[in-house]
Amino acid sequence: MKKVGVAILGLGVVGGGTYKMLTEHREFYQQTQEIDIVVENVLERDKQKALALGVQESKIASNIAEICSNPDVDIVIEVMGGVEPARTFVLSALNAGKSVVTSNKELFCKYNHELEKAARKNNCGLFYEASCVGGVPVIRALLDNLQGNKVLSMMGIINGTTNYILTKMTDEGASYEEVLKDAQKLGYAEANPTADVEGYDAAYKLSILSSLAFHTKIPFGKIHREGITKITPADIQYGKQLGYVLKLLAIGKNTEDGIEVRVHPTYIKKSHPLASVNDSYNAVYITGDCVEDVMLYGRGAGAMPTASAIVGDVIYCATHPTFRYSTFKNTAEADPAVKFIDNFKSAYYIRLDAHDKTGVLAKVSSIFSRHNISVAQMIQEDDGKEDGHVPLVFITHMTKEKSVMKAVDDINATSEIAEVVSVIRVVS
Ligand code: HSE
Repeated sequence: MKKVGVAILGLGVVGGGTYKMLTEHREFYQQTQEIDIVVENVLERDKQKALALGVQESKIASNIAEICSNPDVDIVIEVMGGVEPARTFVLSALNAGKSVVTSNKELFCKYNHELEKAARKNNCGLFYEASCVGGVPVIRALLDNLQGNKVLSMMGIINGTTNYILTKMTDEGASYEEVLKDAQKLGYAEANPTADVEGYDAAYKLSILSSLAFHTKIPFGKIHREGITKITPADIQYGKQLGYVLKLLAIGKNTEDGIEVRVHPTYIKKSHPLASVNDSYNAVYITGDCVEDVMLYGRGAGAMPTASAIVGDVIYCATHPTFRYSTFKNTAEADPAVKFIDNFKSAYYIRLDAHDKTGVLAKVSSIFSRHNISVAQMIQEDDGKEDGHVPLVFITHMTKEKSVMKAVDDINATSEIAEVVSVIRVVS
């Protein structure tokens, strides 16, 4: 039976899960895959952590060089996270002729051109299913099963932390700050939640997924990114009233006019399949020109779901004689011939805090009309505060991003009339 030696860099939550899965399922893989996957080394600063997992002391490497020079190691699994030292370690492994499996979205998003160059040069595999949407096999779906399609668009809930927070805010009417605090206590959100709540994590993943889907390099810097920190219970409530659910969506579209890629809070109709993706679950909704709509749903994070993606890659690497790389020219920057659309079209939710006096609506309407914005729905309800202000909520027809932003500036410039409290895009 073919023996496959692996080394695991980092025994945190995901590394520990991967070690557990590989060791507990070893016989199962022998039977089903006819390969014997053996953990030959681990790299973990906390020796006690490794020993507690059951790693033999002799398998704990003291540095990356030891792993790179170990002839029994065929595949290096990088689950350390962050850019350095992960980048240096992965490059060392590839240059030593080891294939690499990584779960590191930030590293892969920012440096996949460099990693792929090293993998090609050394004829090694480079696998990254676990970098996007944890246990949900979206990378392989794009790389293999959907290759025959022109992917027209993708929309995803690809960050579990923000989906958990928005679900709780929706179900309980609680504020962002309250829910975040609870999520941190329960271990759903990091002590420093910036990468998740400001949309960086989702944007790293969207960069990787949309590059694959649209066969062209989509660098992180091309992605319009907004997080969920300004979302209020009032916005969620008004959305409900209008038949929408609020989600942090990652959206990629490949149109005749160019590519648009964006991560921002978005209202979607309650009837849309993504609207029922709740708590920390993730889903990606892909539309191909032939397959039509496909939705992949599951756990986007966590020790065992992410380990599932990693071990799937290890098995794929060990059972395929040749490796495939990107289907596009993988450079650091975008192809200059590709047009990116920043003035994208969408419907919008615009909430104003208006002075409760004659002429306010007429004034706001004239600003909308000046910027070619047509209103589809409106809510004007007395909030009972008797403070001389009323909330005004508008849903627009499809319009252009820059027109809305100019209208917002104009409304804010007439602050004796009204102020814009929130602007949220709507998928209609
Ligand atoms: N922090 C991520 C999330 C998981 O909340 O979805 C890993 O990408």
